[in-house]
Amino acid sequence: MSVLPGDGIGLEAAEKRFGFQLEFRHYIWASCTCFQEHGTMLPPDWKKLLQACDAIYFGAGMMATLLLFRREFDQYINLRPCCLFPGVTSPLANREGEPIDFITVRENTEGEYSSVGGCIFEGTDGETVIQDTVFTRTDVDRVLRYAFELARSITVEKYHIDILCAHFVQRPRTFDVVVGSNLLGDILSNLGPPCTGTIGIAPSASLNPSSSQGDPDQDAKPVHGSAPDIAGQGITNPVGKVWSGQMMLEWLGEKEATQALMGAIEKVLQEGTNAQLKGESDLLTPDMGGKGTTEALGRAIEEEALEIKFEEGVGKKIITANIEPTESPSHSLPSMQIFQSRIIIKRDITEKAKASHGYTK
Ligand code: IPM
Ligand code: MN
Repeated sequence: MSVLPGDGIGLEAAEKRFGFQLEFRHYIWASCTCFQEHGTMLPPDWKKLLQACDAIYFGAGMMATLLLFRREFDQYINLRPCCLFPGVTSPLANREGEPIDFITVRENTEGEYSSVGGCIFEGTDGETVIQDTVFTRTDVDRVLRYAFELARSITVEKYHIDILCAHFVQRPRTFDVVVGSNLLGDILSNLGPPCTGTIGIAPSASLNPSSSQGDPDQDAKPVHGSAPDIAGQGITNPVGKVWSGQMMLEWLGEKEATQALMGAIEKVLQEGTNAQLKGESDLLTPDMGGKGTTEALGRAIEEEALEIKFEEGVGKKIITANIEPTESPSHSLPSMQIFQSRIIIKRDITEKAKASHGYTK
C-alpha cells in the first residue's frame, strides 16, 4: 500500500515483519476529485463495498462521507490519543520532562453533529437556520462506559468546556482519559496535539466496539483535515496517518506490529528532533520546524519499524527485512487525490479476540 508514501509503507512493513496479511482495496471516491469528475461523492453501492471490508483507512474526509460512515456503521467511539513524544519540543514553555499522554474519547454519532435541522426563508432577511443537538441516554451511556473502562485509574473531574480548554494548555500532563460530546471532543482533540508539537501527528479511530457482523467497525484517519494550503507539496506530516494505521492494527489485534510502529514513530521523532536541534538533519516536516518531506519521514519510520528491538520479553526476535519499494499506480495520483483517497482494509488474519487489544481493557 502506498497511498501516502510512508504511512502505507509503515503498515506494509509491519505486515511483512509480523507475518499477517492485509488486503487493501483502494478507492478514490469520497473525495472532491470524485465529486468534480462525477458530480457525486459516493457510488451507489458504496455501502456494500465498505461492508465487504473490516476497516476503513481514510486520508481526510468531508461531512458528506465521514459523518455518514460513522452513523451508518454506528461507530460511536472516536479515540484520539495525544502524546508528547520524548525529545520532541512542545510549544508550551517550561515543560521540561513533564509527560503529556492522554486520550480523548469523542462521542461520534450524535450530539451537535445530529443533522437535525434545516433552513427556511433562504436568501431573505428572515433566513433562519435551526440545528438541533441530540443526546440519547443509550448513546451517552455507552460512550461514558467506554471511557471509564479505558481509564487506568478513576478519579473523575467534570469541567465546562471553556475552563477545560485552559487546563489543556496549562496542565495537560494531568489528563488521562477525556470524554466529550461530538463537537467538543473534536475541538479538544485539535487543542491537545498542538501542545505536543503539532496536530500533524495526531491520529484517530472511529470504532464500533459492539459491532454486529458484517460492518466495518473502524475507520482510522488523522485528526487533521485535508489542509488545502499545503496539499500537493509533499510536506504533510505522515505521522498522523501512520499512527492511525497503528491504532487500526491494534484494533485488529496485531500487538507486536502495533508496538513496533509506535516504537518507530517515537524513535524517529526523537532522533529527528535531536538532529534538528544540532542542525544536522531536516527529516522533520515543516509543521515540526523542519524542511523534511512526507516521503522521507515516512520511510524513516518504515525502516525503524522493521528493525526496532523490543524491550526484553515483549517482542519477538529481530528480523531485518529488506523490502523493495513496491510499484503502485497511486504513486502517480495527484496529491489532492492521494490525500483524500481512502484505503479499505480487508482483514485476512487469524481470528484474534478483540478483547486482547489495549483499547478495550
Ligand atoms: C474530524 C473532521 C470531521 C469532524 C469533519 C471533516 C466533519 O474534522 O474527523 O475531526 O469534525 O468530525
Ligand atoms: Mn475535526
